[in-house]
Amino acid sequence: MKPHRFPLPFLFLSILALLAALWAGLMRLGWGLPAPTPSLALAHGPLMISGFLGTLITLERAVALKQKWMYIPPLLAGLGGLLTFLIQTPPLGPILLTLASLGGVAILFEITRREMAFHTLTMLLGMLTWFAGNLLWLFGWQIFQVVFFWQAFLVLTITGERLELSRVLRPSRGQQLLFAAIILIFLTGTIVSVFSIQFGTRTTGAALILIALWSIRNDIAWRNLRHRLPLTRYIAWCLALGFVWLGVGGALSLGGGAQFAGPGYDALLHAVFIGFVISMIFGHAPIIFPAVLGVPINFQPAFYVQLILLHVSLALRVSADYADLHTLRMWGGLLNEIAILLFMGMTVHSVRKSLLGK
Ligand code: HEM
Repeated sequence: MKPHRFPLPFLFLSILALLAALWAGLMRLGWGLPAPTPSLALAHGPLMISGFLGTLITLERAVALKQKWMYIPPLLAGLGGLLTFLIQTPPLGPILLTLASLGGVAILFEITRREMAFHTLTMLLGMLTWFAGNLLWLFGWQIFQVVFFWQAFLVLTITGERLELSRVLRPSRGQQLLFAAIILIFLTGTIVSVFSIQFGTRTTGAALILIALWSIRNDIAWRNLRHRLPLTRYIAWCLALGFVWLGVGGALSLGGGAQFAGPGYDALLHAVFIGFVISMIFGHAPIIFPAVLGVPINFQPAFYVQLILLHVSLALRVSADYADLHTLRMWGGLLNEIAILLFMGMTVHSVRKSLLGK
C-alpha cells in the first residue's frame, strides 16, 4: 500500500476543528477555560458536525472516487470550520459550510447516479439534511431548531454505510423495505420538527429505536462480537455499542421530546453524537484511514481502553444529566474527550508503526 500525502491538509483542517470543538465543549460544560476566540463556545456544534465530520466524510468520498472537483467540498468545510471559530461575525463561516454541504449533495448525486441502491439513496438523503440544516442556520435559525437536521446527516450517512456493508448478510427484500419505511419515518420526523419541534423530535426518536432494532437482525456487527480475528471483534463491539446508544438516544427523544438547552438536551444529543457517531468512528477508523491515507492500521489490544472509557464516561454523563449532578456531568464530559484524544493518539501511533515497519 502506497501512503497518500494529498489528503493530509484536509485532515489537518478537520482535526483542528475537532480540537477547537472539544475545547468549546469543555467551556460549555462549565470548566473555567480561557476562550481563545470570542465565538468559540457557541461554535461547538457547527465545528463538530460540519468542520470536523463534514470535512472527513466528504474527504473520504473524494479519495474513493478520485475526481479532482470532489476535493472542493472538504476544502470548503475545513475552511468554513476555521472561519466559524476565528471570526465572530457571521455569515462567512456559515456560507462556506453551507456551500460545502451543497458540494456534498453533488458528490452523492454522482455516486447515486453510478449506483442506484437503498444505501446510496440513504447517504444522499443524509447530505440533503446536512445542507437543509446549514441553510436554515445560515438564515438565522437557532442551533436547537436545526440540530435534528444535523443529527439526520450523521445518522443517515452512517446507516447508509452500514447498509452497504450489510450486503454480506443479504437482507431480504422485506427487510430492505422495512429499512426504507423506517428511514421515511425518521425523515418525516426531522422535517416535521421545523413546524412542531416536540412532535418531530418524538417521531425521530421512535425511528432511531427502530433503526437500532433493525440492525440486530441485519448488521453483521452483532454476529462478529465473538469473531476469532481480534480486529474484526473489536470493530464489532464499537458498532454494536453504537447501535445500543442510538436506541437509548431514540428513547430519550421519544420520552422527553425536544429540549432547548441544559442537561436533558445534553443527554439526548450526546447519546447519539458520542455514543453512536464517535463509537462508529472508532470502529470504522481501521477501515477508513487505510483507504484515505494508504497506510494500514495494526490492531492493538489497547484500543479497548479508549472504547471502554468512551462508553463508561458517557453513561456517567447521561446519568448525571438526569440526576442533575453538575460536577459529575463535567467529569463525564472531560473523560469523553480523553477517550477521543486517546483514540487519536493510538491511531497516529499505529500509522507511524506501519510506516516505520515498511
Ligand atoms: C466529546 C465531548 C463533548 C463534550 C464535552 C460536549 C459538550 C457539549 C455541551 C456542554 C453542550 C451544551 C449542552 C447544553 O445546552 O447544556 C453541547 C451541545 C452540542 N454538542 Fe457537544 N460535546 C461533545 C461532543 C460532541 C460531538 C461528538 C458532537 C457531534 C458529533 C457534538 C455536537 C453538539 C451539538 C450539535 C450541540 C448543540 C449546540 C448548541 O445548541 O449550540 N458534541 N455539547
